[in-house]
Amino acid sequence: MRFFTLLLEVIWILAAVGGHHWTYEGPHGQQHWPASYPECGSNAQSPINIQTDSVTFDPELPAVQPHGYDQPGTEPLDLHNNGHTVQLSLPPTLYLEGLPRKYVAAQLHLHWGQKGSPEGSEHQINGQASAAELHIVHYDSDSYHSLSEAAARPQGLAVLGVLLEVGETENPAYEHILSHLHKIRYKGQNTSVLPFNMRALLPPLLAQFFRYNGSLTTPPCYQSVLWTVFNRRAQISMGQLEKLQETLLSTEKEPSTLLVQNYRLPQALNQRTVLASFIQAESLYTTGEMLSLGVGILAGCLCLLLAVYFIARKIRKKMLQNRKTVVFTSTQTTEA
Ligand SMILES: *[C@@H]1O[C@H](CO)[C@@H](O)[C@H](O)[C@H]1NC(C)=O
Ligand SMILES: *[C@@H]1O[C@H](CO)[C@@H](O)[C@H](O)[C@H]1NC(C)=O
Repeated sequence: MRFFTLLLEVIWILAAVGGHHWTYEGPHGQQHWPASYPECGSNAQSPINIQTDSVTFDPELPAVQPHGYDQPGTEPLDLHNNGHTVQLSLPPTLYLEGLPRKYVAAQLHLHWGQKGSPEGSEHQINGQASAAELHIVHYDSDSYHSLSEAAARPQGLAVLGVLLEVGETENPAYEHILSHLHKIRYKGQNTSVLPFNMRALLPPLLAQFFRYNGSLTTPPCYQSVLWTVFNRRAQISMGQLEKLQETLLSTEKEPSTLLVQNYRLPQALNQRTVLASFIQAESLYTTGEMLSLGVGILAGCLCLLLAVYFIARKIRKKMLQNRKTVVFTSTQTTEA
């Protein structure tokens, strides 16, 4: 009887939380999400693999303008381990322009792989995953009062996706988040973070991005997201990536499980179009073409050098011959 009450309580709590337990791997892993969350099995899901030779260049696409990112107020921000990711709450003073409506910021979070793996991003470019990915989530504040109200509506959300790669130096902007992870190791833990310049989390060149209609990359996978994925990557150090991969746990207590590989695999593009704000320079020459171009230039240089050498030799020979003739002539004159 007591067991039965307990069971009911667990069911009630699960219902109250508003969803089924989900993970990235195992019996509740991503292949099984659609069973509990039907929209995860729908046809405009995220992330995607962005195939740059199939994107549509749109010269009319306005640049994304982040506002308030430089000075996000003075109030401390909540940093939270929700068991699936680390999430930083953002104030609505941060917002985006350059989209169909005004979108205000709500939170940012990260996706990553496991130690030693170069793959951890959700979006891929030409089949290439990056080490990690930052998502900054905004909602349409012209039409809705809150993130939760907008979350299931078409284009209710706008998410900025930043691919992260490993570079030589530590990224101080990301350190504002990463240096606090040890305080929120367990699922459910919170800490507060002083506001910092969030513009520095974005890649250096905001003008190059991809735009498409997609979804939340976690259950319930609502198809409500207007995605902006930047072409350029932001860099963090290897030490910073490892901190992300090795600090957080997906469990509330022991036995502990490391919170790793929290990325969803690319989903089918189906009938969707991916717009690009720029023309891909790389698509003009593939690596192979660049290589043959290089070899061609080298061969050309060599030919030119040989030509110059032979011409120089011929000129010298001719000059020597002329001198001999002169000498010969002068000798003849003396004898005569
Ligand atoms: C922790 O942060 C999350 C996300 O901001 C928030 O929903 C939750 O209420 C916070 N919990 C505590 C105990 O402050
Ligand atoms: C996204 O969907 C809306 C509504 O169907 C459409 O007007 C818009 O052009 C789409 N945007 C992209 C980038 O495909």
